[in-house]
Amino acid sequence: MSEILHASLGRHGRLSDAERRQFALAQRLLPGGALGGNALPDDAKFVFSHGAGGRFWDTSGNEYIDYCLGSGSLFLGHAHPAIVRAVAEQAVKGTHFFAYLNEASLRLAEMFCKLVPCAERVRFTTSGSDSTFHAMRLARAFTGRKKILKFEGAYHGVHDYAQLSTAPKKTAAFPQPQPDTAGIPQEVQDLMLVAPFNDLEETRRIVARHAGELAAVIVEPIQRIIMPKPGFLEGLRELTQSHDVLLILDEVVTGFRYGLGGAQALFGIKPDLATYGKIIGSGLPVGAVAGRADIMDQANPSNKGKPGYVYQNGTLQGHCLGAAAGIAAIETLSAAGVYERVNGLAADLRRALQQIFDRHGMRVLVFGYGSMWHMLFTDREPTSYADVLAADSGSLLRLERELIRQGLFVLPGNRRFVSIAHTERDLEDTLPAIDEACREFLKT
Ligand SMILES: Cc1ncc(COP(=O)(O)O)c(C=O)c1O
Repeated sequence: MSEILHASLGRHGRLSDAERRQFALAQRLLPGGALGGNALPDDAKFVFSHGAGGRFWDTSGNEYIDYCLGSGSLFLGHAHPAIVRAVAEQAVKGTHFFAYLNEASLRLAEMFCKLVPCAERVRFTTSGSDSTFHAMRLARAFTGRKKILKFEGAYHGVHDYAQLSTAPKKTAAFPQPQPDTAGIPQEVQDLMLVAPFNDLEETRRIVARHAGELAAVIVEPIQRIIMPKPGFLEGLRELTQSHDVLLILDEVVTGFRYGLGGAQALFGIKPDLATYGKIIGSGLPVGAVAGRADIMDQANPSNKGKPGYVYQNGTLQGHCLGAAAGIAAIETLSAAGVYERVNGLAADLRRALQQIFDRHGMRVLVFGYGSMWHMLFTDREPTSYADVLAADSGSLLRLERELIRQGLFVLPGNRRFVSIAHTERDLEDTLPAIDEACREFLKT
């Protein structure tokens, strides 16, 4: 593989005056110079200009291969022709009519309910956080109980019931939650319970102790980078059913990534409610709550003002551009061989990366399932959040920074994705860049 190929990726000192001015503008106008909760280190940061397929360019004209992909929402890659066409066609017909019935959203609802095993009804939202928030409210109203159990290390969004024990620095006494942000009242924290993922026995003890006040258990079927142990999800289903507690499967990452039926179909688990975001909008703001009709129908607007009515709404709900993108995404992913190809490419990438790290004598383990790949400075694949904490996160951060500098965009400390638009050429160009990143890493 040629040096020229890899040196053409990444910044390598190429920073235009325009991009320099954009950094200064961001610093002046945005908190911390950032649009959200993630900012890149100064020596690896860039301003996105445009993307195509598995690649994007910064405003200095430097090229990158994208393994962050809009935090996993761009499973079809950047500017996929089917999405661009669908959005453009819809835009000229009108973009939004508030959350009233519209053609595109109805069509998406029909497709969605056909594909998602638990979806007797669906409500579209505008993000994954919206979806988990409303699923929790539906569960509380349905059961008349206040508490929700989540797992340590799981991420369910930005709201106060979600920003607890998502990334604690050390594991605490279960089921006590640890806030991830300032601003969450203690009274809210008291409504949440935390259990260790993949530990059915401990979860059983917590659920049994709190069953009378527990509305739901919410779980990521694949928690960040941790696969469920055989029997864990099935055990949760049995456990929740036996205590009349609802099970919410958070499919924001897994939905449409692991086949059109998501993790429910993959693991054969039928939750009471499921939450969606990311891929369903393929880069547009769409989410969904779906599930049992008797739970979802609490949000029937003709019951407004009556006891038991659950308010579920949003100004941008049922957005036509998002629905058009969702329809195009499902149609594209329905073509024969799409999942086999992307999963195969990701498996090739994982194998090749492991060989490179081994060749450099680095204690990095590459793993992942389907179209995801992860790396940790550890000897064995994590099965718990404690395992993730035990890995050398400082070294990982240094390596990730090198990867970005070599033109491979990975979200620091997080999961990496491959899209259906990534090509063998993307993979070929990735390997020398990784090789160079390792060399640089080992110098420091
Ligand atoms: C499993 C899971 N649930 C919920 C969310 C929140 O989604 P959003 O960022 O769209 O609000 C995320 C976001 O990464 C997620 O990974």
